[in-house]
Amino acid sequence: MDYKNLLLEKNENLLVITINRESKLNALNSKTLEEIKDAFQNAYDDESIRAIIITGKGEKAFVAGADISEIKDLNELNARKFSEEGQEIFQSIETCPKPVIAAVNGFALGGGCELALACHIRIASDNAKFGLPEVSLGIIPGYGGTQRLPQLVGKGIANELILTGDMISAQRGYEIGLVNHVVPQEQLMEKAKGLVNKILKKAPLAVSHAIDCINASFSHNTGYQTEANAFSSAIKTDDFVEGTSAFLEKRKAIFQGK
Ligand code: COA
Repeated sequence: MDYKNLLLEKNENLLVITINRESKLNALNSKTLEEIKDAFQNAYDDESIRAIIITGKGEKAFVAGADISEIKDLNELNARKFSEEGQEIFQSIETCPKPVIAAVNGFALGGGCELALACHIRIASDNAKFGLPEVSLGIIPGYGGTQRLPQLVGKGIANELILTGDMISAQRGYEIGLVNHVVPQEQLMEKAKGLVNKILKKAPLAVSHAIDCINASFSHNTGYQTEANAFSSAIKTDDFVEGTSAFLEKRKAIFQGK
């Protein structure tokens, strides 16, 4: 596949995937998601790749969410598909037998936060911001955020973050266990690569089995289906139309609860 929105750089056993839509803060449109799916499939199949780092282009954003200009055209039926397909791609990241590290270099919002949550380890630059602001758009997180955030930070803090849609700093992310390390932006890739090098010295099969076992502790989770159902229900509300229109028109949304 010819990648339009990803940059791929392979160095020995490490693949660095950079999401490259800087003018839209690396928002995940359908083409970018398709490319991420393909890149992970290839990395999975390529025996010479033993670890993956995913990051965003530029100094401002990791990924500022799913692309709102595409979301606004969803209907109830294709919204379920949209959510399920995103869930599936992010699950393929979570279950990748090779360690996947998110190097979060700026905004990680909505689908961007969910992408980071699906990775095995998150390192953030000190300017990074995390959040699941979907309720501000009249929807809910649809790419696994309602499931993985509580797994990582606990139910109470996940409730607060998802229900308020608040953004938090990298430092706060570190305090609640969302982020493993916070470093100055210029040291972000060095820190991520340092961690990769440590893991690469360990037995590859043991590393894969460990990833598998850790994932297995959450494997009886039916919440993803509930999330996809709730995401597609939200799409038929007037509040969703208002929320997405308000973002694109750069104004505050006024919700009616309908
Ligand atoms: N989808 C589509 N476009 C997006 C986007 C998204 N999720 N996030 C940012 N962009 C676009 C903006 O529309 C803008 O495009 P334009 O220059 O063509 O108008 C460009 O990226 C820059 O964003 P802008 O909002 O001007 O930057 P900012 O510094 O003022 O604000 C954010 C940064 C991240 C706070 C703001 O962009 C934002 O709230 N983004 C949406 C976050 C979100 O709700 N994500 C969840 C989606 S489900």
